[in-house]
Amino acid sequence: MRALTFHGVEDVRLTQVPDPTLLDPRDALVVPLRAAICGSDLHAVQGREKGLDTGTVLGHEIYGEVLEVGSEVQEIGPGDRVVAPFTTSCGKCVPCLNGLTARCELGQLFGWSSNGQGLQGTQADLLRVPLADSTLVRVPAGVSGARALLSGDVLSTGMFCALQAGAADCETLAVVGAGPVGLMAALCALHLGADQVFVLDSVAERLELAARFGASPLSIVDGAARKELLKITAGRGVDAVCECVGSPAASRASIDLLRAGGTLSAVGVHTEDSFAFSPGEAYDKNLTYRAGRCPARALMDTTLPLALDTTWPLEELFTHRVPLESGPDAYRIFGAREDGCIKVLLELG
Ligand SMILES: NC(=O)c1ccc[n+]([C@@H]2O[C@H](COP(=O)([O-])OP(=O)(O)OC[C@H]3O[C@@H](n4cnc5c(N)ncnc54)[C@H](O)[C@@H]3O)[C@@H](O)[C@H]2O)c1
Ligand SMILES: [Zn+2]
Ligand SMILES: [Zn+2]
Repeated sequence: MRALTFHGVEDVRLTQVPDPTLLDPRDALVVPLRAAICGSDLHAVQGREKGLDTGTVLGHEIYGEVLEVGSEVQEIGPGDRVVAPFTTSCGKCVPCLNGLTARCELGQLFGWSSNGQGLQGTQADLLRVPLADSTLVRVPAGVSGARALLSGDVLSTGMFCALQAGAADCETLAVVGAGPVGLMAALCALHLGADQVFVLDSVAERLELAARFGASPLSIVDGAARKELLKITAGRGVDAVCECVGSPAASRASIDLLRAGGTLSAVGVHTEDSFAFSPGEAYDKNLTYRAGRCPARALMDTTLPLALDTTWPLEELFTHRVPLESGPDAYRIFGAREDGCIKVLLELG
């Protein structure tokens, strides 16, 4: 089959790889009809995250059709249209029962294989899904696959970030980073009831989309964003920050925007060894810090209906819709934030 595979920093190729097969009675094989490229794919491709095996099939966002299921799969069957969260989960272990499906004791991340162990990704003609009954979510016929796919990652991650920030009780909330995740965090924070949501980034077209979503865009280019937010909050800082970047600079910016007693909700994937702020600064701010991988499977019960609600302007995220063959070029454009690229949808099938 065809697949987008990882071959080193800035080296994504369209290659032929063997078709996956059912390896366990709980597996399903799914034909991806839509896949997408996520900012998380860029961490390995741009060299910030180490350890990904050469030849790994990339990607963890998918809407597709079930081709075949193992003998123990009962809830879904061939022909079903499904979406998957970006990690698999059993639905039965203590983390799963606590709603932390991203830390399932049997869970794996799609598109992450290290030292020969792990799971291949969604940017291919066929995908093996372990723990299919508790991982996959059936989607009604006739819905937009692109919209449905968003509930498996960036919409759920944005929702997770906004919930962890306590958005419902915020008068002022700042989102640092207006990539797809930050844009979804802004939309979710407004949905949950935050009064004023500010979105900080340097990329003009991403800030424009934030404004169309109902948030207040603030460019970080001239360094005035912090001053502006301090002015708006009478010098105190905002109630909460959703950090949707995953870099020391973004962490630093986030803590500088927060009021005393504020919450920093970080979903950006951090690959550095130490915090960009000191324990003393956290103490002096009476900081609440919440971070981590989104339990997308648990949140999909809430976010899939939102994704399918056509009053939510989600399709605007997909600035680029391309076939799988254009994947290597699409990685480059998305990674460089060229050509107004916000999110790439790979159209297969
Ligand atoms: N926690 C999770 O479960 C989870 C799930 C999905 C994605 N992520 C992570 O979320 C982050 C964002 O993902 P994405 O797809 O939106 O990525 P993206 O790369 O498309 O977007 C990141 C945005 O941040 C902006 N940015 C960079 N530095 C900044 C700074 N100092 N201040 C303000 N803005 C800054 C960039 O211009 C860009 O628009 C990534 O780290 C990704 O790995 C986490
Ligand atoms: Zn992702
Ligand atoms: Zn589990």
